[in-house]
Amino acid sequence: MQYSETKFDLPSLEGLSKESVDAHLGLYSGYVKNFNQLAEVRGELMRDPEKNAHAIAEITRRISFEFDGMRLHEYYFSQWEKGVKTLSQKSDFAAALAKQFGSISDWEKQFRSVASMRGPGWAILYFDPRGNFFHNAWIEQHHQGHFATLPVIVALDVWEHAFVKDYGVAGRGKYIEACFKNYNWSVMEERFSSL
Ligand SMILES: [Fe+2]
Repeated sequence: MQYSETKFDLPSLEGLSKESVDAHLGLYSGYVKNFNQLAEVRGELMRDPEKNAHAIAEITRRISFEFDGMRLHEYYFSQWEKGVKTLSQKSDFAAALAKQFGSISDWEKQFRSVASMRGPGWAILYFDPRGNFFHNAWIEQHHQGHFATLPVIVALDVWEHAFVKDYGVAGRGKYIEACFKNYNWSVMEERFSSL
């Protein structure tokens, strides 16, 4: 079993240079390749699981880093496809956000505070259909802190590799601003309404 790279149809993004986005797409490509390689090597080692138990255990511990790196970048880049579209205030998604957080801008303020946490990781907006509740979550690196089974509605990469080229190491705030400026919110509305 091998995963294929997704090709994203990205417009030019205000405040995010093509050079930076292309380099970032290259990193995404690396996660797909690394996952596929590790899965293949592990498959070979599994022919003799007793003899290869330690190597299998190390790869098994490591492989979710590559998988989540791959999948989260797919959520991330697709949020910019087909150009800017503001969040429709009439959408079920906007109504649900406003109901829980008081207003869209209150949600955004809270989400941005999560995105400003120290360390490499992701700010994620999950929705829990069972609890009928959103969660603003922090994912350490790519794979630590996920809420089991919850669908991702917004995925914001705040690793330095996402912004250092355009904004320097202290530029995370300006980068977050640029990410929001370029979102096609119909993508997130569709993620929510398809649950
Ligand atoms: Fe990234």
